[in-house]
Parts: sequence; C-alpha cells; structure tokens
Amino acid sequence: MPISETEKPVILTGDRTTGPLHLGHYAGSLRNRTTLQHTHQQFLLLADTQAFTDNADNPEKVCRNVLEVAIDYLAVGIDPDLTTICVQSALPALAELTMLYMNFVTVARLERNPTIKTEIQLRGFERDVPVGFLCYPVSQAADITAFKATLIPVGEDQAPLIEQTNEIVRRLNRQIGRELLPEAEAMIPKVGRLPGIDGKAKMSKSLGNAIPLSASPDEIRDAVRQMYTDPNHLRATDPGTVEGNVVFTYLDAFCDDLALVEDLKARYREGGLGDMVVKRQLEDVLQTLLSPIRERRARYASDPAYVIDVLKKGASKAMERTEETLGEVRAALGLFAL
Ligand code: TRP
Repeated sequence: MPISETEKPVILTGDRTTGPLHLGHYAGSLRNRTTLQHTHQQFLLLADTQAFTDNADNPEKVCRNVLEVAIDYLAVGIDPDLTTICVQSALPALAELTMLYMNFVTVARLERNPTIKTEIQLRGFERDVPVGFLCYPVSQAADITAFKATLIPVGEDQAPLIEQTNEIVRRLNRQIGRELLPEAEAMIPKVGRLPGIDGKAKMSKSLGNAIPLSASPDEIRDAVRQMYTDPNHLRATDPGTVEGNVVFTYLDAFCDDLALVEDLKARYREGGLGDMVVKRQLEDVLQTLLSPIRERRARYASDPAYVIDVLKKGASKAMERTEETLGEVRAALGLFAL
C-alpha cells in the first residue's frame, strides 16, 4: 500500500540503545506510547546507529542494549501487533538518506543546533567532535522522513532536532520543486521531566539516581527511602514543602488516587505528617506499578527468540516503508539509476 493511503497519522520515536530504560522513560514517553499505539500508526526505533555516534569505543554496549530496550518496550505494554519496533542499523535506507541529506545542511548550522551544542559541551568534545555525532541530527531527519512521520513524541530537549529536520525537508522539497516529504511536529509531553531520586533535574543511570524498570522490590524500597524530600522538614510536626519534594513529584506522576495525594499534600504542608508515611504510600504505588512490568520483563528476557522474531518482523515492515521513501527521494533528485 502506498504510504499516502495509510489513514492513521504516523508517529516515529525511539531511544538510543545505551542502557535499559527506567522510570523516567516510563513517565516521559513509554506510558504515552502504549496509549498512542491505539490511535496512531506507531514506529519505534531502537536507535543503535545513533547510540554509536558517541559510543564508538563501546559497540558491545550499544549492541547488547538493543535487546534490553526491546524487552523494556514489550514489558510496559507496547504491542508488536500495533507498534512496529525496528532496529535502526537494520535499515540501510536510513543511512543512504542521511548521506543525501548531509548536502542540504551546513556544519555551521549543525554546530548552532542547541541540542548538539549542549551535548558537545557536556561531552567535552570541542573541535574533536566525531563527524558522526555532529551529523546525528541529519540521521534523525532521515529516520523521521523515511517513515514519513508527522508526529514525533520527544522530550523538550529534542525539539531543535525536529526543527532541524523540517529545515532539511523544506530545503529538499524546494530543490525538487514539490512537497515530497512532509514536515513533522514535535509532541512534547505536558508533564515535565521526572527528576532523579536525589532531586536532580534528570533521572539517569549514569548519575546513579534512576529506578530501572527491572528494579526488584528491595531496590524500589531502598530508592524510595533514599528519596530527596524537604531538607527543612526535620520533625514530623514541622510544616513541610511539597514543591521540589521528589516524593510528591513521583506521587503526582504515578498515583491515580488524586484525592489521596491532595490530602497528603495538605497535611504535609500543615505539619504533622512524617516523610516516612508519604514514602510508604509512594512505595506502594511504585511496587504496584513495577511488579507486572518486572514479571513481563523477566518472561521476555527468558525468551530472546521471541524478541528477535518481533524485531525481524518489525525490520521487514520498516524496510518496505523506508525503501519506498528512499526510492522516491532518489528519483526526485534524479540520481543515476541503472
Ligand atoms: N534522539 C533520540 C533519543 O536520544 C532517539 C531517536 C533516534 C529518535 N531517532 C529518532 C527520536 C527519531 C525520535 C525520532 O532518545
């Protein structure tokens, strides 16, 4: 079926395969994806090629985590009958489109891209930035356009990458004189990023402040016990602050009983409610949330043949779609055809 005849809007998003996913990913994107797969045609990219752009010294890590992230997807309820899960490096059309698009963007523009600029600083690359890393926004533009995706659910930090994609799209469409590639729109979640258990702005495995989706009951309990609260709330009788208090931030993110959370907040603010009481409540919520995910995760992990089969089927579906777009782009640019 030609791409233009598919009815549901097309979503593409993905994750770099640098480590198993955690609760921050669940709050920020995974949970959303399990809903979106019912209303949209959804593709999820296991972005191993992109992960490689700053992990070329550790390809084994990038490779190993392809299956880990796939297992995370399945464990949270991504249904392979509704969502196409595919491995980026298994789709050569993405690499070919990247190569072509590189001619529609300048080095200066890539260096000005706020996402890239920040990441280059963060990694201390300066002028020794790998070419592949500098160009990963171009490769992401290839990902997005190859699927002709129009909705890209990503965190706020990724918004400049979508803008960069659209610039490439406009530049290419102008070159060929028609709207072959659609522009895409970032879908940025309204809820902010989940902080780490230490209260730092970002939950991240490398910062040691993350709760992995595979966390055992003991790990969950310990994480909640260590969680950053209000440093001035020394005695249970003291009035406490809810804002910036990680335990409350997590309750807001994961507890469905809104009335209960409001009641806890009111009592905490007033004084008379100890941290331990609120933490016990949160621990209950997280144990309930993560227990089925952990069980499903273990089941998929013990059946890698099934997971690989999901990835093979995903690759073949994605291959068809991305090759079709590549063919159109090649023809539109008038590349030599044998
Ligand atoms: N850059 C994304 C991340 O760091 C991963 C990614 C790769 C992606 N290709 C994509 C996201 C295409 C959205 C669309 O998590």
